[in-house]
Amino acid sequence: MGGARASRILGALCVATAFVVCAIVVLLGRAAVAAPEPMANRGVHEGVASCAGSTCHSRQVDSGLNVRQNELITWQDPSSPAGVHSRAWRVLTEPRAQAITRKMGIGPAQDAKECLGCHADPAPAALRGAKFQISDGVGCESCHGGSSAWLASHRAVNGTHAANVAAGMKALENPKVRAGVCLDCHFGGSKPGQFVTHQIMAAGHPRVAYELDLFSSLQQHWTVDADYVKRKGYAGGVKTWAVGQAMALDRALTLYSEPGRGQGAFPELYFFDCHSCHRQISDDPKARPAWQANPGRPIPAGQPPFNDENMIMLSAAAKVVAPGLSGRLEADSRAFHAALARDKAESVRAAGRLAATSRALADAFAARSFSRTDTLAILDTVLSGEIQRRYTDYTGSAQAVMAADTLLNALVSSGQVDRGVAARVRPSLDRAYAQVRDPNSYRPDAFRDSLAQVAQAVRSLR
Ligand code: HEC
Ligand code: HEC
Ligand code: HEC
Ligand code: HEC
Repeated sequence: MGGARASRILGALCVATAFVVCAIVVLLGRAAVAAPEPMANRGVHEGVASCAGSTCHSRQVDSGLNVRQNELITWQDPSSPAGVHSRAWRVLTEPRAQAITRKMGIGPAQDAKECLGCHADPAPAALRGAKFQISDGVGCESCHGGSSAWLASHRAVNGTHAANVAAGMKALENPKVRAGVCLDCHFGGSKPGQFVTHQIMAAGHPRVAYELDLFSSLQQHWTVDADYVKRKGYAGGVKTWAVGQAMALDRALTLYSEPGRGQGAFPELYFFDCHSCHRQISDDPKARPAWQANPGRPIPAGQPPFNDENMIMLSAAAKVVAPGLSGRLEADSRAFHAALARDKAESVRAAGRLAATSRALADAFAARSFSRTDTLAILDTVLSGEIQRRYTDYTGSAQAVMAADTLLNALVSSGQVDRGVAARVRPSLDRAYAQVRDPNSYRPDAFRDSLAQVAQAVRSLR
């Protein structure tokens, strides 16, 4: 999880129109365990200032103890993507954001409900404590959960993570819980102000891209060591990736199925492959259309395809580690794409079936471990054969490169592949990243050729 990896993906993410994708808030604050707090105050977001303090989370350097205690400094670090959440509100005051809300014809961005659900802690007014400040942006409790019921007890010497979780802290070590939290903002959620409509995109918002394991390592302010594993267990990169894919697909389909999304006669375009519409038209008689038939999507020419980046990754993972569900996933995906070309109501029913299959896959992945052989087989499936023929559009292709990076990194960080040996794959992976750096110069054939090179390099690891 080195800095080299972070800057590489950021190159891919942030040059040109940046991309993005986030999920379900799992309310764990139930059983009254530690704090005898009145029910009405449960889950109050006390504000970032409540987490500060030199004996708490605002040391200057890593304590080397069970938790680093310098989390606040990392969260604020202006030089790294790990510091980006502390700036999330401030960017709304800057010219780019102001231009977006001006185009939308709504008030200043820093006050706009359309923006604050993701660019600040979305706690409702009734759950904001005395030190809560909207200008803190995406603060600690936006991810870790409102702290009122565990703030005092989580410092206790005999306190346990389970007791904190029972008092409302989110179990972010669990990939399903984590995916739910991140997807709310890195894809969209049902809470007010948590959806980047195509209208917001067209007003100038960067594209939203997401991969759970990669984005987790980009904002990492924790150390997974023996103590961490003892306290919380460790899912590992491959499981985090796979569960993240299943949860992302479930989220997209669930939001798609909600009534009231869309613009007049049109469905909400955010769910569809951006570049399928945003291509050039030529009147040159020698010109040939750029779109390519895709074996995973039985739709007629001219039909905007639903963004299938997570469907493709999920399909690769299911083929290898959940063969019992793989056939069902293929059938449900094809039926959903086909239904979209026919009828809205039918597409919503098909979305419901595919979402249920994604949740079943999330559970199957969460319940198993991933061996070296599994991971190498998933990598090979992502990079070649039947799956490789489905990379006809930009977003799926970008997701494939992130998957290769994440899976390779997981093999190295778990000691299953030697770092020096894995480095042999790097040059080809860098060339594949280069193919997706600028969405506007993406060429599917050249991309698939570059991926074939990665596949070849990966096979030499076996
Ligand atoms: C669903 C959550 C969501 C909503 C709603 C949302 N954003 Fe964002 N926004 C994001 C994410 C995530 C990023 C980071 C994109 C990336 O680089 O991956 C972002 C990035 C941005 C950026 C670029 C920031 C930078 O550092 O360059 C601006 C500007 C911005 N948003 C403005 C707005 C405005 C204005 C609104 C309201 C009209 C809004 N956003 C609504 C999630 C959201
Ligand atoms: C964008 C989401 C997000 C934000 C914002 C965030 N965290 Fe975290 N934090 C995580 C995730 C994910 C983990 C890793 C899973 C886990 O251990 O719970 C984590 C882990 C931790 C850990 C656990 C380390 C361990 O060894 O158990 C501490 C302590 C922590 N964060 C403190 C903070 C503090 C303090 C802030 C605010 C300054 C903060 N976090 C902001 C997502 C976030
Ligand atoms: C409440 C909303 C919210 C939540 C929850 C959230 N994020 Fe973010 N995240 C944002 C916004 C907004 C930005 C963009 C901020 C900017 O560019 O100024 C962002 C940016 C990032 C970036 C930098 C991306 C880039 O292209 O530079 C990473 C990495 C990231 N988030 C990871 C995570 C992870 C991992 C989680 C879950 C553990 C998470 N985030 C949860 C709102 C959120
Ligand atoms: C079904 C077709 C379709 C899809 C899919 C689609 N768009 Fe659009 N987009 C349009 C149309 C139509 C316009 C309006 C163009 C105009 O008025 O000139 C537009 C406008 C835009 C603009 C403003 C362009 C400009 O130069 O003014 C941006 C940016 C944009 N879309 C981004 C996206 C993103 C990001 C996605 C994917 C999340 C996406 N679009 C998906 C059809 C689509």
